[in-house]
Amino acid sequence: MSDALIAVKPEIAARAHVDAATYKAMYDAAAADPDAFWAAEAKRVAWMKTPTIIKNVDFGGTSGKVSIKWFEDGVLNVTESCLDRHLATRGDQVAIIWEGDDPKADSKVTYKDLHARVCQLANAMRGMGVKKGDRVCIYLPMIVEAAVAMLACARIGAVHSIVFGGFSPDSLASRIQDSECTVLLTADEGRRGGRKVPLKVNADEALKTCPSIRHVIVAKNTGGAVAMQEGRDVWWHDACDSQPTTAAPEPMGAEDPLFILYTSGSTGKPKGVLHTTGGYLVWASFTHQNVFDYRDGEIYWCTADVGWVTGHTYIVYGPLANGATTLMFEGVPNYPTVSRFWEVIDKHQVNIFYTAPTAIRALMRDGEAPVKKTSRASLRILGSVGEPINPEAWLWYYRNVGDERCPIVDTWWQTETGGILISPLPGAIAQKPGSATLPLPGVRPALVDNDGNPLEGATEGNLVLLDSWPGQMRTVYGDHERFQQTYFSTFKGTYFTGDGARRDADGYYWITGRVDDVINVAGHRMGTAEIESALVAHPKVAEAAVVGMPHEIKGQGIYAYVTLKAGEEPTEALRKELVAWVRKEIGPIASPDAIQWAPGLPKTRSGKIMRRILRKIAANETEALGDTSTLADPAVVQELVDNRVG
Ligand code: WT7
Repeated sequence: MSDALIAVKPEIAARAHVDAATYKAMYDAAAADPDAFWAAEAKRVAWMKTPTIIKNVDFGGTSGKVSIKWFEDGVLNVTESCLDRHLATRGDQVAIIWEGDDPKADSKVTYKDLHARVCQLANAMRGMGVKKGDRVCIYLPMIVEAAVAMLACARIGAVHSIVFGGFSPDSLASRIQDSECTVLLTADEGRRGGRKVPLKVNADEALKTCPSIRHVIVAKNTGGAVAMQEGRDVWWHDACDSQPTTAAPEPMGAEDPLFILYTSGSTGKPKGVLHTTGGYLVWASFTHQNVFDYRDGEIYWCTADVGWVTGHTYIVYGPLANGATTLMFEGVPNYPTVSRFWEVIDKHQVNIFYTAPTAIRALMRDGEAPVKKTSRASLRILGSVGEPINPEAWLWYYRNVGDERCPIVDTWWQTETGGILISPLPGAIAQKPGSATLPLPGVRPALVDNDGNPLEGATEGNLVLLDSWPGQMRTVYGDHERFQQTYFSTFKGTYFTGDGARRDADGYYWITGRVDDVINVAGHRMGTAEIESALVAHPKVAEAAVVGMPHEIKGQGIYAYVTLKAGEEPTEALRKELVAWVRKEIGPIASPDAIQWAPGLPKTRSGKIMRRILRKIAANETEALGDTSTLADPAVVQELVDNRVG
C-alpha cells in the first residue's frame, strides 16, 4: 500500500473554498457547537420558514430508541432551492447537459426550461390525485425526464422511489409493493452501449403484482413499440404538454420525507432507506460545493446513474441546489470506444469529473493511448466513489486522466449517509493514493473492535460514526425497528457503517471494505442473502451460499456454492440456467461470476454456514483456512477446496 503524500497544490489551495486552515476551523467549529455551525450552513438553501431548532438526535445509547431530526421546525420545498431561486440570476444558464448513448445525441436544458418541465409534470401528477406523502416510483433511463420526475415529485411533496433501470421486473415489483407506490414513471425503452433496455415491458410484467399503481406515465424515448393499458397508462407528452408551466411548491417540513431508495443489507430483502427534506438538501449542497470545490459557471459531471444514491445527491440535488451545470450521461464508458469519457469531457469542457474505480480499472486495460489522444485541459478536479480505489488505479487516474494537475477526491459514503462523509477537500488535505483521508466537518468517525471497544491511534477495526450529520437517513421505510437493529444495535449508541477501515499515523482512513455479508460488485451493492434466496427459489436447488471473490475489474465478483436437490445432475447447462435465473430474478448486476457445485457446505454444529471459509476458498487462499474444528463435518472443506472453480 502506498502511503506517499501528494501535497495540496498551492494554486488549488489559493482558489479553493476551503484551505487547510479553514478546514481545521470548520471541523472544530462543527464539533464544538453543531447548532451554531449548521444553523449558519442551513442558509445555503431557501426556506419558507427558517428553522430555529437545529439538531435533535438520539442514537439510542441508553434507550435503544433512535430518533434523528435536523432543522425540525423549518419549512421548505427543495425545488425552490434547485430551481425557482435561480430563475432571476441564471434562468438562461444550462442546468442539465444531456449526452446520449449515441455520441451524436445531446441536448441542453436551461434552468428556466427545467423549471417549466418540472411544473408541468407536477401539475399532471396533481391532476391524477397525487398528494403530499404519496409514493411515486421512477423506473427511467438516464434521460432528462429522470431529473424532471424527481423534482416534480419533490414539487408536490410526493416521495420518490427510484428503481435502477437494470433491475428485473421482480425487483421492481417488490420495491413498488413495499412502499405502495400509486404512480409509476417509466419510458418505452432505455439505451446503453448501443443496446435497448425494455423498460415498459419489464414494468408491465412487474405491475401484474402491484395493485397499488393507478397511473403509469410513459416517456417516449426510443420510439419502440409498447403496449399501453387503457385507463392506466398515459404518454408523458400527452399528460404534460398542455399543463401550465408554473405550479405552487408544496410546503414541506424539514423532516418530511423526500425520497426512499432501496439498498441491500446483510439480511433479508432490500431496505427502503428514507431521506428527509431539509437536512438532506443542506448536506447535498454543502458537500457538493466543498468536496468538488464547485464554483459558479463550472461544468460538472458525475457518471453515476440516478438509480443509485450517487445520482440523487451528485447529479441532481447537490449540483442544482448550487446552481451548477450538471451533465447527465445515458451511455457507458466503452461505447462506441474506450475514449468516450474523455471525448465527452472535451466536447462539453467538463471541469469536475466524478466516476467509479471499476470504470477506471476497466479503462486501464486499454492503456494510455485512448486517454492521451484527448485534451482534458478543462479538467480541474477528479473524484472517485463506490468502492475502495486501489493505489494503482488511483495513480493511473491521476497521471493519465488528470495529467498530475488535478487532485483526486476519493469520497467515502453510503446510501444511508445521504452524501460524502470522508474525503480529501482538494485545497485543504494532502492525498494518499487509496485513502479517503479525513472526515468532513460535522463527521465523527471512530474505529472499534468486535466488542465495541474504541481503538485509538494507528489501528484497524470496524468503522462507526459517533454522532449525526444533517444528511443521515432517518429510518427504514415502514420499519423503524429494522433501522435501529441494523445500524445502532451492533455497537450501541453509534451508527455502524458495515465497513472496516484502517487508520494510519496521520489519522487518515483507508476503507478496507464491508465486514458484513454485503458485497460490492463494480460499485453496486449486493446482499449475498438476496442472491442466495434467488438461487434456492430454483426448483433444482436445495441450498446456496454466496460470497464475494476478488475480481480485477469489478473489485468483487459473485461466487456461489450450490447444493442441488437429490437426483439432480450438475451439468454445464444447469450452471448456465442458474446464472440466467439470477439475472431474471434480480437483474444482470447480480449474475454469479462463478458457481461451484457443493455436495455439502461447511456448517457449525448449530447449522450456521461458515462463510469465512467459503470466502477463503473463493479467493483461492486455501492454505490459510483457519480453525475448522468447530465444523459439524470438516471433510466437506477439502471437497470444496479440491473442486474450486476459476
Ligand atoms: C458502500 C456503500 C457512496 C455512494 C455509492 C455507493 C463502499 C463507497 C467508497 C470509497 C471505499 C467505498 C463502502 C460503503 N464505498 N465509497 N470511496 N472507498 N469504499 O453507495 O451502494 O450504499 O454502498 O460502498 O463499502 O459501505 P452504496
